[in-house]
Amino acid sequence: MLQWYKIDKTSFYVENRIYEVEAGRTRICIMHNANGWKAFSRKCPHAGASFVTGWSEGEEVVCSYHRHRFNLTTGKGCPGQGDFIKIYPTKVEDEELYVAIESSGSFFCRLFK
Ligand code: FES
Repeated sequence: MLQWYKIDKTSFYVENRIYEVEAGRTRICIMHNANGWKAFSRKCPHAGASFVTGWSEGEEVVCSYHRHRFNLTTGKGCPGQGDFIKIYPTKVEDEELYVAIESSGSFFCRLFK
């Protein structure tokens, strides 16, 4: 089940810069580019670096450590990398940014599912 979380102070964000934010209990990265808001995994799957020092090129985010690239729509790494990142749905309502995180539900919800 998806749970929407409001991300604070979107008006202070600079275009194409990557930020780490909290969405509920999950720490993620967000960025605004020409295609709108993007929300994705905080850590690069290659060796665990934060994407906050990375950058975007077109529809890809680039990790600054070893230059692995990931599509910001599908999460797929470039051919040959064999890895991917998680992409989170975003929406803007009343000029506020919301990010959806998959919720596993409570212990009892999972038990009786
Ligand atoms: S840690 Fe990101 S490319 Fe190596």
